[in-house]
Amino acid sequence: MIKNKNSNSMDITRKYLDSLVIEGRILGSVHPSTKCTVLGMEFDTPVMGAALSHLKPGMAGYAEGLKMANAFCSVGMGDNEELGKVLATGAKVMKVIKPYADREEIFSRIRFAEENGAAAVGIDVEHATNSEDDQDSICAGFQLKQPTLEELKEYVASTKLPFFFKGVMSAKDALAAKEIGAAGVILSHHNNIFRCAAPHVWQLPEIREAVGPDFLLIVDGGIEDGYDAFKALARGADLVSVGRPFMPPYEEKGPEGVCEVVCEFTGQLRAMMLRTGSKDLGSIDPSVVREAYWL
Ligand SMILES: Cc1cc2nc3c(=O)[nH]c(=O)nc-3n(C[C@H](O)[C@H](O)[C@H](O)COP(=O)(O)O)c2cc1C
Repeated sequence: MIKNKNSNSMDITRKYLDSLVIEGRILGSVHPSTKCTVLGMEFDTPVMGAALSHLKPGMAGYAEGLKMANAFCSVGMGDNEELGKVLATGAKVMKVIKPYADREEIFSRIRFAEENGAAAVGIDVEHATNSEDDQDSICAGFQLKQPTLEELKEYVASTKLPFFFKGVMSAKDALAAKEIGAAGVILSHHNNIFRCAAPHVWQLPEIREAVGPDFLLIVDGGIEDGYDAFKALARGADLVSVGRPFMPPYEEKGPEGVCEVVCEFTGQLRAMMLRTGSKDLGSIDPSVVREAYWL
């Protein structure tokens, strides 16, 4: 039972995003491009699918919708059979694996992802424990365990695939992830599992400064439209991961519903790029995002 609503990381993140306002620089602006190259793959948008799981209409349709939008897809927990169906869609997919206590479970899932054409793998490193205490938890019947840094290093070294840690929330951890060979991190409080979290978009410039330009930073959690996406990108993110906004449209319309959400967010992002004189993603000037102290 959470008594203090100010400990809710969702609310904290929302408040911070809402406190950011954007300076217009439209004179001479041109219609912008949101194309991006990530890990050698070309996408039409930096808006990507979050590592969802257990979606009622199935995970393959989710991947199909992201493929239709030419957007990067990530998927969360689920067995290899399900991942096989997701990968058979031809979508570009990052598989995010749980921090299972049984380490062979992790190694074998990494191998399966690599052998079956995943574009990247990751581990949601913060999900081994819950919010209320420090005990290793059980998730969907699987015992989880907080991985050591040495174990994480072994997972990264076990595959040729680019490796991501999901749930990193600081410059210190992002740098540690880079040092042990990760390709990038997903900044996420995992739907408030980590309470009182410093908002990722607030932390971003410091994290970017620490890891340099070539380490991938993906912002995840609470991105509700393309304007939020713009704020994250302007503050140093490479990609913006979106989860729950896809769910009702996917249930209602299938893969088209997922594709429509990506297009809607990307349209809003383009609108803001045009209004700030940003002709492409690399041209977004961080100084157009300003903190409104009165909000
Ligand atoms: C139905 C559902 C299932 C999820 N399953 C996973 C999962 O298996 N692994 C994971 O790392 N995150 C999982 N997540 C968390 C999402 O990847 C993401 O971090 C979170 O939803 C925040 O993004 P959002 O605010 O855009 O929804 C799940 C979220 C939802 C809503």
